Amino acid sequence: MNKILFFFFFFIVLLLSPPQIQSQTIPSNISIFILAGQSNMAGRGGVYNDTATNTTVWDGVIPPECRSNPSIFRLTARLEWEEAKEPLHADIDVNKTNGVGPGMSFANRVVKRFGQVGLVPCSIGGTKLSQWQKGEFLYEETVRRAKAAVMTSAGGSYGAVLWYQGESDTVDMVDASVYKKRLVKFFSDLRSDLQHPNLPIIQVALATGAGPYVDAVRKAQLKTELENVHCVDAKGLPLEPDGLHLTTSSQVRLGHMMVDAFMSIPNSARPLLSGFSVLVLFSIFSFVILLDLPLHFFGYLLVFF
Ligand SMILES: *[C@@H]1O[C@H](CO)[C@@H](O)[C@H](O)[C@H]1NC(C)=O
Ligand SMILES: *[C@@H]1O[C@H](CO)[C@@H](O)[C@H](O)[C@H]1NC(C)=O
Ligand SMILES: *[C@@H]1O[C@H](CO)[C@@H](O)[C@H](O)[C@H]1NC(C)=O
Ligand SMILES: *[C@@H]1O[C@H](CO)[C@@H](O)[C@H](O)[C@H]1NC(C)=O
Repeated sequence: MNKILFFFFFFIVLLLSPPQIQSQTIPSNISIFILAGQSNMAGRGGVYNDTATNTTVWDGVIPPECRSNPSIFRLTARLEWEEAKEPLHADIDVNKTNGVGPGMSFANRVVKRFGQVGLVPCSIGGTKLSQWQKGEFLYEETVRRAKAAVMTSAGGSYGAVLWYQGESDTVDMVDASVYKKRLVKFFSDLRSDLQHPNLPIIQVALATGAGPYVDAVRKAQLKTELENVHCVDAKGLPLEPDGLHLTTSSQVRLGHMMVDAFMSIPNSARPLLSGFSVLVLFSIFSFVILLDLPLHFFGYLLVFF
């Protein structure tokens, strides 16, 4: 009897122990989200000019909504999985000082619905949409990282692309006027190269721009007119003193807006209880009945979930 109990507890501890975070981490059954765009997707929340050293530094403030979680992973520049932490783009947008973006607040909400989340940061500050066209370095790098995310996980599948870009396309009138055409091509090529023709895309309509053509770019973003491309509007969210970047709390808000857009897509939200957890609950219940344990024992175990 004791032996059975021992194995029973061993079994439960094994099931409940969090995945080990090492260099060899292979997350299973993750929903993969690709984070692409320029600085506001890479994250500049909390980045300021330090007058003492004349450099930009990140204040290191991580709000509760952006905290790490053992079920949220991040694909590093070396294509390895690790527990995700701010700044998500630290080893990607390497020539800039990265701060808080929308990725972690998005992931912390989505993880409550999906078992595990895998984030694939790909954003680089100051880039134009022409640099994201098929054949260009940023495009090919995004496809390479997105494919690696599936191959290096056990049963990973794409959840969505989160896209926030366009500030650099507000400077030149030609860039602004062809923005929609380039955007449709970029999204279509990406879906085709990832073999996921209906891949959900959540994009952000600009809050700011580096030049005068912000409204032209916003218009293209708000009316992309592609199936399953959803737009959330960042206009009006509070900005850092540079007038170009969202603050940390704006980024938290933006991440939640992107979750709302994602969850409103039919069939995007899988049920909270997967078939796997139902199986676990059922086996525990059977053990309780089989071993003739008092039923409140079952209640104690449920607390762990
Ligand atoms: C992953 O999902 C598949 C299919 O839904 C399931 O059979 C498998 O047990 C899951 N693996 C883990 C480790 O949760
Ligand atoms: C830092 O200072 C530079 C030069 O004055 C300015 O262009 C930039 O916007 C400032 N950055 C921030 C985060 O305030
Ligand atoms: C601070 O850095 C900027 C650009 O990196 C430079 O133009 C400026 O002269 C520097 N200011 C001081 C006080 O060192
Ligand atoms: C960083 O700067 C170096 C040197 O200018 C450049 O070769 C490299 O492509 C840059 N990397 C990114 C991600 O911008």
